[in-house]
Amino acid sequence: MPKVTLSVIKADVGGFVGHSSVHPELLETVREHLTKEGTFLTDFYVTHVGDDIELIMTHEKGVDNEEVHKLAWDAFVAATDVAKKLKLYGAGQDLLSDAFSGNIKGMGPGVAEMEFEERRSEPVIVFMADKTEPGAWNFPLFKMFADPFNTPGLVIDPSMHKGFDFEVHDLIDNKKVTFHCPEEMYDMLVFIGAPGRYCVRAVFSRTTGEIAASSSTQRLNLMAGRYVGKDDPVCVVRCQSGLPAVGEALEPFARPHLVAGWMRGSHHGPLMPCSMTQCNPTRFDGPPRVVALGFQISSGKLIGPQDFFADPSYDNARMIANHLSDYLRSLGPFEPHRLGLEDLEYTTMPDVMKRLSGRLLPID
Ligand code: F6R
Ligand code: MG
Ligand code: MG
Repeated sequence: MPKVTLSVIKADVGGFVGHSSVHPELLETVREHLTKEGTFLTDFYVTHVGDDIELIMTHEKGVDNEEVHKLAWDAFVAATDVAKKLKLYGAGQDLLSDAFSGNIKGMGPGVAEMEFEERRSEPVIVFMADKTEPGAWNFPLFKMFADPFNTPGLVIDPSMHKGFDFEVHDLIDNKKVTFHCPEEMYDMLVFIGAPGRYCVRAVFSRTTGEIAASSSTQRLNLMAGRYVGKDDPVCVVRCQSGLPAVGEALEPFARPHLVAGWMRGSHHGPLMPCSMTQCNPTRFDGPPRVVALGFQISSGKLIGPQDFFADPSYDNARMIANHLSDYLRSLGPFEPHRLGLEDLEYTTMPDVMKRLSGRLLPID
């Protein structure tokens, strides 16, 4: 049987209202486009999380395929036309170029893809986040694939006991390194504990060599003295039979960790696990949130989805996220709620500095 490729490609091409959600007409436009032009797809599922449109697609063309990327690009262009017509907010904001140039990576949209031989049963989870950045997956991926307190399979399942390899990308120097866990876990944590720069791009089983997880980690570009291109990320995780159980893959989200990307991309906030009906960030444009949709892949077809965080057992996580939000909000413009100066997406610093230049005196 030919290998299956799962491609998740996302973009924000216009918000409804502000940066909070996606207008249904955009989703309809994208679905029509994929139905008409994507006949080479085995299956697809279109949804949104916050203001991001998410295309979940299966096919047999492998990763980084020009035809698949162009299909997604054209679907986003069609949705942009509708967003412009409705004067939605930031219409076309993630399409950084006027024309498609072979690979959608680096052109604005986020991409997480993996190619694999479909197992006897193939459960996958598609994680999709809004108001945060690719490094947001570092903490949960570490917990899923390297923390025995999260994933008992690492200790008691013979098909997981050898551990997992983590491919980590340096988004600024454009370098990558693979860490073999558990033995190189401490070395790896030096890097991935800094999620603004180092991101887990993929995880592989050391028992089978198979890909287990893939994230939409994109390299950053130095523009006007600042690194730009961090965006609301997606991540795909395969589960069960030598990989984390569905419950082990979801467990890291039961206690929200802090991520960057809230209000103006310039504040830290808790990553709140949400159902599809709760995924429109409003409070202070947030807090950042994550949706987890489960699918069984059957001969390439997407059987699902199962909306995992609709489970009331994530109510406590949402409550903790709300408490953390109250606390962080009380800090206002002070760090660590606000990001450090070098990470702010918006800044008035150069102007203020210029105005104060004559008043900046040496300290004796
Ligand atoms: C955060 C986000 C929003 C906007 C904010 C200001 O990632 O997207 O918080 O940054 O609403 O948006 P503008 O500058 O477009 O008015
Ligand atoms: Mg937006
Ligand atoms: Mg967004």
